[in-house]
Amino acid sequence: MTTTARKYVGTALDRVEGMEKVTGRARYAYEHSPDELVYAVPVQAAIARGEVRAIDVQAALTIPGVIAIIWHRNAPRLAPPDNAELSVLQSARVAYRGQYIAVAVAETLQAAGDAARSLSVDYASEPHDTELRADHPGLYRPEKVNAGYPTDSEHGDPDAAMEAAPIRVDAIYSTPAEHNNPMEPHATVARWDADGLTLYDSTQGASAVRATLAALFAMPPANVRVIASHVGGGFGSKGLPLAPVVLAALAAKHVSRPVKLAVPRQQMFAVTGYRTPTIQRVRLGADADGRLTAIVHEAIEQCSTIREFVEQTTVPTRIMYAAANRRTTHRVVRLDVPTPSWMRAPGEAPGMFALESAMDELAIACGIDPVELRVRNEPDADPESGEPFSSRNLVACLREGARRFGWTDRDPTPGARLVGRTLIGTGVAASTYPAYRSPSQASARLEPDGRYTVRIAATDIGTGARTVLTQIAADALRTSPDRVTVEIGDSALPPATLAGGSMGTASWGTAVVRACEALRERVSRSGDVRSTGLEATADTKEEIGAQERLSRHAFGAQFAEVGVDVDTGETRVLRMLGVFAAGRIVNPKTARSQFIGGMTMGLSTALFEESLMDREFGDYLNRDLAQYHVAACADVRDIEAVWVEEDDPHLNPMGTKGIGEIGIVGTAAAIANAVYHATGIRIRDLPIRLDKLLR
Ligand code: MOS
Repeated sequence: MTTTARKYVGTALDRVEGMEKVTGRARYAYEHSPDELVYAVPVQAAIARGEVRAIDVQAALTIPGVIAIIWHRNAPRLAPPDNAELSVLQSARVAYRGQYIAVAVAETLQAAGDAARSLSVDYASEPHDTELRADHPGLYRPEKVNAGYPTDSEHGDPDAAMEAAPIRVDAIYSTPAEHNNPMEPHATVARWDADGLTLYDSTQGASAVRATLAALFAMPPANVRVIASHVGGGFGSKGLPLAPVVLAALAAKHVSRPVKLAVPRQQMFAVTGYRTPTIQRVRLGADADGRLTAIVHEAIEQCSTIREFVEQTTVPTRIMYAAANRRTTHRVVRLDVPTPSWMRAPGEAPGMFALESAMDELAIACGIDPVELRVRNEPDADPESGEPFSSRNLVACLREGARRFGWTDRDPTPGARLVGRTLIGTGVAASTYPAYRSPSQASARLEPDGRYTVRIAATDIGTGARTVLTQIAADALRTSPDRVTVEIGDSALPPATLAGGSMGTASWGTAVVRACEALRERVSRSGDVRSTGLEATADTKEEIGAQERLSRHAFGAQFAEVGVDVDTGETRVLRMLGVFAAGRIVNPKTARSQFIGGMTMGLSTALFEESLMDREFGDYLNRDLAQYHVAACADVRDIEAVWVEEDDPHLNPMGTKGIGEIGIVGTAAAIANAVYHATGIRIRDLPIRLDKLLR
């Protein structure tokens, strides 16, 4: 595949909807207010397992303005979904604390809230188990893991190779449950009319919401329209429709009025997914020169009793380093917990914390510089599939990062740099993320006035998707961005894949380029088109299905400098540098934001984020931003992201790899490795809290 001509791809075009956003004209889901609107406030289960025997709604219904209390006895029936999370208010069962058991609908938000709080629920409570343990008897081997990857992999004889290895690392790492907290909580405005259902929804994928809601309400997809013009972040939590959007649609149907429902921040800690906690064992065997002979990475995770979701924690280990003997596994246990789901780089983020921490431990055990150790174990081809890499520039990232960061004269001795009462250290770790592409459709139209309109049901969740698609379309049409209008965020547009898996630009861009090429072809064959306009469409299903078998991944190297207070154990990240090789960068301005956003989330993972499960209570206790800490501006000091030029012709017409997730991968390991270098204390359990350093 050759990549297309480019004039605007690669330039720092300002966000095309920037003015709309800063002037408040850009409307998010919750800001839509159809006539006859009413408000819904969801009610959550207060037990971790059991049944709702009855709900006394009398008091609620006497509150002025209250229209209905909907629960499983009176809720509209839904068709059984594949994902039982979507079976909202369909049965008496409670599978986890916080699951939706009712919704109050009223003329005002205040009345709906009062009604929700006034319900008296009679539960039949059952003993619950919400504790992930490495020796849990319920652990089992799932059929496959997220994104369809095989559960386990094995090559050679890893146990014998470990046994024979002169240098070994064998360590357990753990990562806590973490919750997505996009700025904009999940929100839906649902309206039924003669044509069916219209949803203004905060989602990463309008087409998927349409398909799912149509199936639940047993309607043709054409009778559902999902509009998501602007979305204030998602990180995966809005990747697939979950209970809230279903509840909004169901409530609107029940009361025959448009319903507005926003998920309160505290409810997001139960109903919108989270990153599973993990317990990971990594074993590395190497010769005295640090050449790996064995890699074993085994992960343990949790899911809920109603939906199996298994994060692909050890999958990135399959492609990272050369070693003849290897094993990766995933085991999961069903607990009475909320259902985990996607959170930025599911799999890669926690998995690479463990692997890249272990690589640092190996570097120390071998007495080899950690940059050099990684370079030494660079594979020629994908170590497990044997497929060639479409391009792989991890070494270039490591070298460039080492140069820019000033790594070369680093004294590896831990705990050796004391400045005042602060121990200073530096660390490095590798990043990776797959370069996926998923089928999508698009249309391109030459308008009678000579301008172009490109349509695709893509979503811009704050990444700059609308802007980069405008650049891509402008180049494909051989015109300038100001002559192109890109319409996205509406399921009525040609169907497209979701904004997830770092594959938006690659997937949508391919469809946009093909539609634009088809339009140019049509224009060149026709005469005067100005009076009627001309349109062309594209569907990339065949093109993507026919792509050659190659191992396609982005890579990166992250460097961190930390300061650890000797007296308090408080850790500050003083400096972070990420160097990435992610194919062609379409827009350096929005790309930099993606990279440093991911790295900031990685810093947050390293030092702060942790959802605390209480065994007796049966749920996560810290359920707001006062108690669940995310990195804020004051936590981020000197952070920079750069990239190495990568010209990979095997990806897509733009030559892009996707950048939404790789920034979070490896960050926590780089910081933990820097903390070790600063203090001589190896923290294998995230987050790196001061009490763990003082212990
Ligand atoms: Mo991302 S976790 O693929 O939305």
